[in-house]
Amino acid sequence: MSKFWSDVIHKLTPYVPGEQPKLDNLVKLNTNENPYGPSPKVIAALKLEAADSLRLYPDPNSDALKAAIAEVHHLQAKQVFVGNGSDEVLAHVFQALLKHSRPLLFPDITYSFYPVYCGLYDIEYQTIPLAEDFSINIDDYDQPNGGIIFPNPNAPTGIPLSLATIEKLLQKNTQSVVVIDEAYVDFGTESAVSLINTYPNLLVTHTLSKARSLAGLRVGYSLGHPDLIEALIRVKDSFNSYPIDRFASAGAIAAMQDTAYFEETCSKVIATREALINDLTQLGFDVLPSGANFIFAKHQVKEGAELTALLRQKNIIVRHFKSPSRIAPYLRITIGTEAQSKALIGTLTELLLDA
Ligand SMILES: Cc1ncc(COP(=O)(O)O)c(C=O)c1O
Repeated sequence: MSKFWSDVIHKLTPYVPGEQPKLDNLVKLNTNENPYGPSPKVIAALKLEAADSLRLYPDPNSDALKAAIAEVHHLQAKQVFVGNGSDEVLAHVFQALLKHSRPLLFPDITYSFYPVYCGLYDIEYQTIPLAEDFSINIDDYDQPNGGIIFPNPNAPTGIPLSLATIEKLLQKNTQSVVVIDEAYVDFGTESAVSLINTYPNLLVTHTLSKARSLAGLRVGYSLGHPDLIEALIRVKDSFNSYPIDRFASAGAIAAMQDTAYFEETCSKVIATREALINDLTQLGFDVLPSGANFIFAKHQVKEGAELTALLRQKNIIVRHFKSPSRIAPYLRITIGTEAQSKALIGTLTELLLDA
């Protein structure tokens, strides 16, 4: 606290990211990173970028990157906005498109950055409780609103909604922007990108942090009608003209272009997820359906906080949310390599036998 702070800073409750420990030899399953490194083509592109040209600013419009993203999604470059991680893209989305006189709607259990942006930009919001089975019921969003946002699959539950369900929501909700945060969509969830040319109020956000293995490079993007994209560009150009540096641009372009590597690593993660769900079920866990690179699981006897602490003592980190109380029994476990999954199952078997 300081008398020099502005009012908004006094009132802010910042987002708390998952721990990034400084220790080696941990089985790190707490922040939904990809267990596989980026494509070798990305590494080659980054090496080429370490050159004299770094003395020059990057392209403020990121035209080459937008073209590469547009090609992957069969859209036009003017339907693409890029930013320094999808968190930055989302921040601009909240400010540019979701601040209205009616409240923004999002689930009560969802990505915990959403209420933080509302605090930062003074946006009125209303949370909509998830159903008993932790799914999003889109009928609950059929009410006057200043916008709707949720991840698909949702976080931290991992539960996906079908494309038909998202389209039903868009058919009903035409007067405000609907943002589908598809950070984890490539791990087996249907994307809403195919609806963009039909619904001018749909904005879809993606990240290269998960399926493209580039959390360390910080690149995210959104896709939507050019009018929505223009609003985001206006915020960006009033904030930071160069959010994508030369390395980020070169690496992200190479990642978007290496479809074979992307598909191979996503398939491996999905296969490991299915095997892990099976093993955890046999150990007495209830696991929610997942279309993501993480699962949300609760043991039938052991508490979530206690299990998290016990795993930590054995150098395995998973994520636990104390509140709301409905999710306190759960662990959010990122899908790692097969070897990491084996280590997790081996340790849990020991811990649960000891209990
Ligand atoms: C639902 C969701 N959206 C967006 C993000 C932000 O991703 P990034 O800023 O790394 O692109 C995350 C990160 O974990 C997330 O869980």
